[in-house]
Amino acid sequence: MVEGEVQHGLEDVVALESRICFIDGKGGRLIYQGYDIRDLAAQSTFEEVAYLLWYGRLPTAAQLRDLKDRLVQLRTIPPGVLEIIDRIPRDSSPMDVLRTAVSALAVFEPAETQPGASSIGGAQRLTAVLPTILGYYHRRRSGLEPLAPHPGAGHAAYLLAAVSDRPATELEVRALDVALILHADHELNASTFAARVTASTLSDLYSAVTSAIGTLKGPLHGGANERVMELLDEIDKPERSDEVIRARLARHERIMGFGHRVYKVEDPRATILRDWSRRVGEAHNDLHYYRILREVESVVHREKGLYPNVDLYSGSIYTLLGVPKDLFTPLFAASRVVGWTAHVLEEYQDLRLIRPMARYIGPTDLTYTPIGQRS
Ligand code: CMC
Repeated sequence: MVEGEVQHGLEDVVALESRICFIDGKGGRLIYQGYDIRDLAAQSTFEEVAYLLWYGRLPTAAQLRDLKDRLVQLRTIPPGVLEIIDRIPRDSSPMDVLRTAVSALAVFEPAETQPGASSIGGAQRLTAVLPTILGYYHRRRSGLEPLAPHPGAGHAAYLLAAVSDRPATELEVRALDVALILHADHELNASTFAARVTASTLSDLYSAVTSAIGTLKGPLHGGANERVMELLDEIDKPERSDEVIRARLARHERIMGFGHRVYKVEDPRATILRDWSRRVGEAHNDLHYYRILREVESVVHREKGLYPNVDLYSGSIYTLLGVPKDLFTPLFAASRVVGWTAHVLEEYQDLRLIRPMARYIGPTDLTYTPIGQRS
């Protein structure tokens, strides 16, 4: 890298050191605190992975039980936040609702009066409360009864009850649990970077997560799986994939769910989710989306040499679980909040204000014209 050279999008810039997550972009591996994502997705639960990301080690059975109990205890939202959600129009984007509610939570639970609010306690509080916020808003807009407390349910089961309008099977809960594990962290992705930038000014955890939610909202980051489902609905039949994809590429459109800034091979999360898309499809006797996705994959690879990313298959699973499209990105947030908060806590440990530079390309010698003389 040449000094003063602009790295557009900060591509390939190493901004900090971290022990939390490693992406091997060439080898197609994703590692959380030393453990391969494939082992975690096959054998652990979301709560176990949350513990791992926050504390840097896998929990014992007793530690995991304590964490699960604690997350259940922290699910309730203060009445002031409920009142704010009540005033939000019913056709709002759930990501806007989430961002607003987390921001409001900071007012009702100010970091200044709760010294633990910017610690692991705050991280657990935010993780526990996001499903409640989503469930409160979604069930209200759908004219359903408020979300039941579900004291015995783990994070995935509670979250699924919040965002789906029907009871879930064990396989469905496990499918979501795996999706949550896979989304929990991803090194310095845009939303995590936003969270760390906010934390690097010594701002509090709730502000950092509010920044992160706003960043995740964009379709180049969190919103891609929603767009994948729109594409699949347009394609409608596997045999139409070729025609629809080629037409989009001819218009220089991006095909959502493909390509990645870091992975140069298949995203390992896509490999695992492809399998779960098939498993959930078989359980529902409905492989409609899975079959189109397989065809889309082969067309995009043939035409552009691109590999699937995490967003290609997740929407097909969520749809079969009864989750509305506009709640896909909030599901991502309900998992990534663990990564955001782990990174913020790491930032506090090794604090250095994040403040890059811009190369100025505007003029420097304009003559000031008083307002009355401007045309
Ligand atoms: N569809 C069509 N062409 C693509 C795509 C795509 N999805 N992705 C990259 N390309 C092309 C791009 O047009 C460019 O071609 P050319 O050199 O001919 O102009 C080339 O590949 C390199 O693209 P780039 O924009 O320099 O690559 P990037 O590293 O900035 O892109 C990306 C990364 C994720 C923004 C991009 O692949 C993309 O827009 N994908 C679609 C959106 C998507 O699926 N987002 C979810 C990302 S995974 C979520 C996560 O990990 O958080």
